[in-house]
Amino acid sequence: MRPSSHTYRTGRVTCFIMNCAAILILTTSCFSWTSAIYLPNRQATKKLKYLLEPPVYAEVTSPRGGNATLPCVLRFKPSHYNVKWTKLEPLRRGSENIVMITNGSAHKPYGLLGPRASLRKAHAMDASLRLSNLELEDVGRYRCELINGIEDESVIITLEIEGMVFPYQSKNGRYKFTYQEAKEACVEQDGTLATFKQLYRAWTEGLDWCNAGWLVDGTVHYPILHPRAECGGELLPGIRSYGPRDRIRDHFDAFCFTSRTTGFVFFVGGPLTFGEAVQVCRGEGGELALVGQLYSAWRFLSYDRCNGGWLKDGSVRFPITTPRERCGDIPEAGVRTFGYPNKTLRLYGAYCYR
Ligand SMILES: *[C@@H]1O[C@H](CO)[C@@H](O)[C@H](O)[C@H]1NC(C)=O
Ligand SMILES: *[C@@H]1O[C@H](CO)[C@@H](O)[C@H](O)[C@H]1NC(C)=O
Ligand SMILES: *[C@@H]1O[C@H](CO)[C@@H](O)[C@H](O)[C@H]1NC(C)=O
Repeated sequence: MRPSSHTYRTGRVTCFIMNCAAILILTTSCFSWTSAIYLPNRQATKKLKYLLEPPVYAEVTSPRGGNATLPCVLRFKPSHYNVKWTKLEPLRRGSENIVMITNGSAHKPYGLLGPRASLRKAHAMDASLRLSNLELEDVGRYRCELINGIEDESVIITLEIEGMVFPYQSKNGRYKFTYQEAKEACVEQDGTLATFKQLYRAWTEGLDWCNAGWLVDGTVHYPILHPRAECGGELLPGIRSYGPRDRIRDHFDAFCFTSRTTGFVFFVGGPLTFGEAVQVCRGEGGELALVGQLYSAWRFLSYDRCNGGWLKDGSVRFPITTPRERCGDIPEAGVRTFGYPNKTLRLYGAYCYR
């Protein structure tokens, strides 16, 4: 069986891409899409009196597990005021998304982020927010709002986590995930549904993928670097967008975002059935690796291994950083996949994570 590359590939047409072409032709009649860049609404800016603007950094990037400081500094202090930090988007379900409120002397953390939030307090005018042990879901826009009862004002800081995007497809085939299923699938693979910004960046870094997938805001897109007829036509390279879709009725693949991990991925030779692979990894004090963990090892540790191995989701993949003949025969680096073979097949090794 020949593998197809699941990411960062160009040109070559595999059977996988062909499937996609057929479905795209079917769907173009009911979906309208463009290659225009889709961006969330921007907040209108007005001249601020109390808060330092522009902020020291409008965007802060940190690794998963690291700490980040979101700057918010007063230039003029009202006699009575509160500073309220809120996470604007993406929103977590069931939480109010206030992170911290301070009146200059006393402060109180709130919500799911509260336990990992503190104030930097480098000086009397400093209301900067510190977040520790960063998680993938912490990405997004945060608002630092000064409330003094007369005229409230705010600055917005964006937090990004260093990481990468990978496409993910259900074991039941192409376009099988509702929004919620896509979200859960990413979490099961050590990721989160990607933001548009993360997908956009992945596209600039080489992601060319001919299957549309959910993003965390409920929109659906796919990134094309090398325009071709079977992938939406000969438009300019860009993110092809289906816009917001029905989260319950529509079905697509997923774009997941993952980051560096604290453990590492290693290969155990086969041939093994899926069940044997599970046992072998346990015997090594680990578990079968998740798809996100394999991508992370490939991307951040240049993991390269020319052997198909089982992963925990039942797929068989292998990571290639130095493309060579007889190693999938695809000229670009990437994580290749054999899909989800019959679990009783004794043909592959195992990728374990510990
Ligand atoms: C993050 O901050 C915590 C204290 O909040 C500290 O213990 C830890 O060492 C810091 N981690 C890094 C990577 O700086
Ligand atoms: C801030 O709040 C605390 C606790 O509610 C209160 O004791 C303190 O007086 C307040 N400080 C200012 C400057 O308003
Ligand atoms: C997997 O292969 C076994 C043995 O060839 C066969 O009995 C079984 O039905 C197959 N399972 C699936 C899901 O195709």
